[in-house]
Amino acid sequence: MQQRKLNSLMLDWSVDWAELFGAERPLIVEIGFGNADYAIALAQSNPNCNVVGFEVSSQSMFKSEKKIIRHQLPNIRAIHSRGETALHHLFTPASVREIHINYPDPWFKSRHAGRRIMQRDTLDAIVSRLEPDGLFFLATDIVDYAEMSHELLAETKGLDNLLDAPYVHEFSERLITTKYEEKGIREGRRGNYFKYRRNTHPAPYVPVKEELPMPHIVLKTPMPPQDIAAQMEKMAFHANDIHVVVLNAYWNPNYQTVLFDVVIEEPTIDQHIALLLHPREKTADFTLKYATFGMPRTTEGVHYATHFIAEWIVSLHDEAEITSKRVAVG
Ligand SMILES: C[S@@+](CC[C@H](N)C(=O)[O-])C[C@H]1O[C@@H](n2cnc3c(N)ncnc32)[C@H](O)[C@@H]1O
Repeated sequence: MQQRKLNSLMLDWSVDWAELFGAERPLIVEIGFGNADYAIALAQSNPNCNVVGFEVSSQSMFKSEKKIIRHQLPNIRAIHSRGETALHHLFTPASVREIHINYPDPWFKSRHAGRRIMQRDTLDAIVSRLEPDGLFFLATDIVDYAEMSHELLAETKGLDNLLDAPYVHEFSERLITTKYEEKGIREGRRGNYFKYRRNTHPAPYVPVKEELPMPHIVLKTPMPPQDIAAQMEKMAFHANDIHVVVLNAYWNPNYQTVLFDVVIEEPTIDQHIALLLHPREKTADFTLKYATFGMPRTTEGVHYATHFIAEWIVSLHDEAEITSKRVAVG
């Protein structure tokens, strides 16, 4: 039975899947399951496997969870997560039998192109996570996307194409026609189907991304914390593919704290967290660390965010300085 409301931020990195399912079975993964019909069909036709679906859309997640519960299948779980987060943080190398991606990234030519699923780093993670002879299936109705994927896959030494062409338009192994597949057909676009198998070529090195120790900065400033909060305007910082946006700062007169509302985008994970500037017993001393709510996971991005905000606070006053810091940056 589906445990409700699973997401990649609350699970262990990596996950003990046998424990989560209550049974050890080979793993089948679907990334971007949409309305979950294909994932459910996978679970029904593979009762001896555990099917794990990943989806970023909260709305799709909400509807699919209900649908999955109605089906009462013991071997399927829906997880609210980017597929990239799942591949890099939740699965160990050579642990997945099949990975399916159906109709990804319909907007792929837009400004989101950098975040599309089919790209080198993600494909390397797919190769790493597939077990020997594991299978990778991709379907798309966008010809440019199919061509782009073909080029990437052709350069991927760890996978062999099992079809007679780079991709085909008729594929007997399709379990059902998905919602987006149907939409494409209605609008006159054919499906382009790929099937690849993991070979014996060594996989790229893609270790499971684990959590870092908690960041922690102590700083001294004569500036009252409410003035620090008042100075704050939305600001953005970037380093090594990490993007940090500080949306706002809230002064809490009861606790004399300033809470920073922070969004962090990293290549393998997105988080929305809160960092707290907290007065210490000594006058003018403050600690900057993350607030416990919102379930932050300590990534490099969280360290950068702590570092950026501390640097910004000390830049506001000539006598301000950082007196101790434990952050993993640069
Ligand atoms: C075009 S829809 C296809 C849905 C379904 N697979 C189908 O064929 O009907 C793409 C789906 O992938 C999800 N998605 C997009 N990027 C994702 C990512 N990085 N990780 C997980 N899901 C993603 C979207 O929220 C959306 O539900």
